Amino acid sequence: MSSLPVTRPAADELKEVLLSEEQVRARVAELAADISRDYTGRDLVLVTVLRGGIFFLADLSRALTIPAALDFMAITSYTADSPSGVARLLKDLDEEITGRHVLLVEDIIDTGLTAAYLLRVLHTRNPASVAICTLLDKTARRIVPTLPIRYRGFEIPDAFVVGYGLDFRQQYRHLPYIAVLKEEPETSLSLPG
Ligand code: IMP
Repeated sequence: MSSLPVTRPAADELKEVLLSEEQVRARVAELAADISRDYTGRDLVLVTVLRGGIFFLADLSRALTIPAALDFMAITSYTADSPSGVARLLKDLDEEITGRHVLLVEDIIDTGLTAAYLLRVLHTRNPASVAICTLLDKTARRIVPTLPIRYRGFEIPDAFVVGYGLDFRQQYRHLPYIAVLKEEPETSLSLPG
């Protein structure tokens, strides 16, 4: 573990750096190389979920050596009002994805309920293929056993992490590294995006 940069705001609320800026950057470059190789010659659309995924998407897409369209979705939390795992679409795609290759770019997959919902939505539009690229994979809390995770940045332990797009009450998204919060939030605060 590297030490916490003291100049960053609110760093005293963080327990430790789990993944340094350098580790994240290096892994994003590797993932981009794999994706560039696998999707060469294909009509690729990278889809991410607002807001947490935008940092990963921005870095990943810039490291690709192939062209790709970018698009965004936003969904409600399923935890507050609908604990059964039913989410609602707040912002749909702008792109038409029928017949195109879709890569769902996620910051983190935890229970997998969010990704499963998004996959269901995407599949209704008959894309040529749908796969997942997640930066972080928290497998310990997985509820949905079979997700098409084709690219995985890091498998992480069951801890609440922030930074590089991930928030706690809309804070910490700007951190260039991924850190563990000192205080573990209630599960119900683990909201999509
Ligand atoms: P799911 O449990 O896989 O459906 O993940 C739901 C959402 O909870 C994710 O998209 C994230 O936005 C959020 N989430 C899950 N774990 C964490 C975490 O450790 N830090 C910040 N957000 C998280």
